[in-house]
Amino acid sequence: MRVVFVGAPGVGKGTQAQRLAVEEKIPQVSTGDILRDAVKRGTPLGLQAKDFMESGKLVPDEVVIGLVREKLTSAECAQGYILDGFPRTVAQAEALDRMLKETGSPGLDHVISFDVPNVETIRRLAGRRSCPRCQTVYHIVYGPPKREGRCDKCGEALVQRTDDKPETVEARLAVFDQQTSPLIAYYQKRGLLRRVDATAAIDQVSARLRAVVHPARTA
Ligand code: AP5
Repeated sequence: MRVVFVGAPGVGKGTQAQRLAVEEKIPQVSTGDILRDAVKRGTPLGLQAKDFMESGKLVPDEVVIGLVREKLTSAECAQGYILDGFPRTVAQAEALDRMLKETGSPGLDHVISFDVPNVETIRRLAGRRSCPRCQTVYHIVYGPPKREGRCDKCGEALVQRTDDKPETVEARLAVFDQQTSPLIAYYQKRGLLRRVDATAAIDQVSARLRAVVHPARTA
């Protein structure tokens, strides 16, 4: 299965990608996680990306396209993948189309658009806590860890992302409207777009997602 997740910051792409990746035994390729890790380690990629991320802007297309190309051509992605947070501009979507053609891939199966009103995504981002070691995502109210402030999976201390400050969230939502939302029409035209109402609880959204990627199983 080759799937793309599209949606505004905080709609729950990462949460659902982590769950679907386990169920389908395919990797979650999160450009946000890859870039955050590079920033943390101070690599050349991280140094290039840091200022863009901290101000809520997109990292330049050529940087992100290069790192996704490297991932998708690796053995890890041979049986499929969930692209979480890529593409995010029409130029990235076109580059992905070219990549798939060049590598003889059968192409994408689904592009899932997660829909949640901004007032709710803002609430979700304000309460998000993430594990810096294994990237598991929590919410202090909607999905808390068993032990306060600690990751259930690896025990690491949970952190709040620096780009979840209210003023940066506002900038990220504006960037989504201007630069990423045109992808909805792009994939609709290609017959790949599936919409998931993601306003419900996490388990319910997972069930809706499963029904969309495996319609025959739930019919
Ligand atoms: P990235 O990390 O991709 O951030 P994002 O797209 O803004 O999305 P988020 O990770 O904020 O939200 P999410 O939808 O994954 O929600 P989550 O599951 O965590 O990108 C960060 C930055 O990197 C960008 O701003 C940019 O600078 C750069 N970047 C990344 N990709 C790029 C690209 N392709 N091109 C250029 N630049 C790029 O959930 C949020 C919270 O809600 C959590 O607390 C969760 O527990 C909770 N939650 C989830 N689902 C529910 C639910 N159903 N009900 C209640 N709570 C829920």
